[in-house]
Amino acid sequence: MKSHILLLILFILITFSVYGESPKMQQHNLMPIPSNIEFTQNQYRLDSTFTISILPNNNNRLNEYATRVLRRISGRTGLFFTQDFLTEKSKPATIGLTISFKREGEVRLGEVESYSLTIEKTKLILKSETDIGAFRGLETLLQLLQADEKGYYFPTVKIEDKPRFSWRGLMIDVSRHFMPIDMVKRNIDGMAAVKMNVLHLHLSEDQGFRVECKSLPKLHELGSDGLYFTHEQIKEIIKYANERGIRVMPEFDVPGHSTSWLTAYPELASLPGPYTIERNWGVFDPTFNPTIEETYIFFDKFFKEMSELFNDEFMHIGGDENNGKQWNKNPSIQKFMKENGIKDNHELQSYFNKRLLEILTKYNKKMVGWDEIFQPDMPKNIVIQSWRGQKSLIESAQKGYQGILSNGYYIDLVQPAEFHYLNDPIPADTPLSPEEQKFILGGEATMWAELVTNETVDSRIWPRTIAIAERFWSPGNVRDVDDMYRRMEIISSQMEELGLTHISNYEMMLRRLTNNQNITPLKNLVDVVEPVKLYARHRQGKKYTQYTPYTRVVDAARPESMTARRFGKLVDEFMLNKNEEIRTELRFMLMNWVDNHDEFLLITKSSPVIQEMTKMSFNLRLLAETGLEILDGSMNGRIFLDEWKTQKLKLIEAAKIPYGQTELALNPTFEKLINSVQMK
Ligand code: ACM
Repeated sequence: MKSHILLLILFILITFSVYGESPKMQQHNLMPIPSNIEFTQNQYRLDSTFTISILPNNNNRLNEYATRVLRRISGRTGLFFTQDFLTEKSKPATIGLTISFKREGEVRLGEVESYSLTIEKTKLILKSETDIGAFRGLETLLQLLQADEKGYYFPTVKIEDKPRFSWRGLMIDVSRHFMPIDMVKRNIDGMAAVKMNVLHLHLSEDQGFRVECKSLPKLHELGSDGLYFTHEQIKEIIKYANERGIRVMPEFDVPGHSTSWLTAYPELASLPGPYTIERNWGVFDPTFNPTIEETYIFFDKFFKEMSELFNDEFMHIGGDENNGKQWNKNPSIQKFMKENGIKDNHELQSYFNKRLLEILTKYNKKMVGWDEIFQPDMPKNIVIQSWRGQKSLIESAQKGYQGILSNGYYIDLVQPAEFHYLNDPIPADTPLSPEEQKFILGGEATMWAELVTNETVDSRIWPRTIAIAERFWSPGNVRDVDDMYRRMEIISSQMEELGLTHISNYEMMLRRLTNNQNITPLKNLVDVVEPVKLYARHRQGKKYTQYTPYTRVVDAARPESMTARRFGKLVDEFMLNKNEEIRTELRFMLMNWVDNHDEFLLITKSSPVIQEMTKMSFNLRLLAETGLEILDGSMNGRIFLDEWKTQKLKLIEAAKIPYGQTELALNPTFEKLINSVQMK
């Protein structure tokens, strides 16, 4: 008996040391983390004989995807692979990766995206039901590529992977600031790299109507300043996304947010025009008149054309933030409401939505809308996109509506990745039953474009959306924030190879800001500042519009300062154990900030545009000096006096004042440091 138990223990020990590696036990850079992963402590060494073969080899989409992956591996390693392009004429090879799949996937909600990837010492095997599953597996493979002094390799591993949610989206507002097709394509590539599968294009706003409409041509002719996608471009975007297993869902936001439409067709507005394209940011009054038949004749024509152009089964009608002011002021609308027993503007909007639903149903589309469309009398076959809180998502699921979560994923609000990461469409403490949970399809990050242009938008989407992508794909218990940040930075830098500009445009913008002087003093400062959070930027004296500059320090500054985060982590570690190595590293950072201020003053002389940051730079110097005092004091047992602390906390208060709509991201750490000193 005893020997049996001993044998069992021995067996378990051996099994776990050889096979049972949990993700924690072997550090890896995968993001999103696969649902099942087992490292097997060996390596597949990469050389120029590496090839990819695909069974069957007649799927163009996968042939092309695999060719791009081959080029990306070649690009990272400098290896001259002999294999050129995978085509249906490619012969199965014996060396390298073999992909096998059963069928071509449909780019639609709920399609199978699972895959398994096995890497052994001598071969790599990727298996999936659909080619889309193979795309997801190929991105995992790219993330597994490692290097050591001997060259490049893949660690041996067994992965079984599938998504937690079937709707993993990114909404891009291409209307407030128009975004060119190149921006859309490079971000589709970014989405594919982290296994997202819905591109939601917000195609109309008060400030612009962004698609060619052949049946109602005044929409793009008068509503867009000439900045819109042609039919051909939309088809190109859909094809590009399709080739990466990504759906494209259009949004046409009505009945509010519609000034650009009504600029073209003022006769459909709730009050007489004329209207002009809105240039300011906010919520505006112009609204479609839901009580006249002409409105529905218009939308029938409109959605007929758009339903043919966009092949996705879903059509988003917006529906948010209709302030109802025009409806209140129009006597004929009031009369219509009375005659039809419509008691308020919510019911009137429901009437409008139901009329649109009839039209969309006729054209085989399912309706999606922001959570304002969740009204008691709406049919159950609509999808609610929850943006004002989790409450509407929960309530709509309880009532049997499908829903997607965007509240908590508003990346335009420049909040930290951690905040979005821990926000879950179905949190562990959800009040929903397992049956009700099935109505939650997933979520979407939303990139609203008031304060971004093509130049800065990537830096607002990435890298934080990588964390959101993990939330949508990986098991819900994957929640290690520090490890998320570690992996996010690695994947973020890999994404540059897709043409994304979230890293590269930073220094370009700093060069313009310094008039091509040495950017280091500016970079040292901007590395530790962040744009003010939420919508505070609109309330700090500058009036932003569609035509104001988005090129200042606040625009170059990243939503989340990684330098500030690293400083905070080092200080935490230092406070735990007064380690000499950490102290040296911290001193180095602090001295750099102290010295920076004079250098910064020098470059401001020929860069007036950065003078708005002078006080911030000075505050950084004062705080860094304080930090040095604390570090040195803590090593030689200095006892600090009350007056000293009071004075230093005043510095913190002064440093909390934003300059140029930015804030110093180091403030909380300095405050913690000051509060940690030994007092009399
Ligand atoms: C929204 O943010 N108005 C949907």
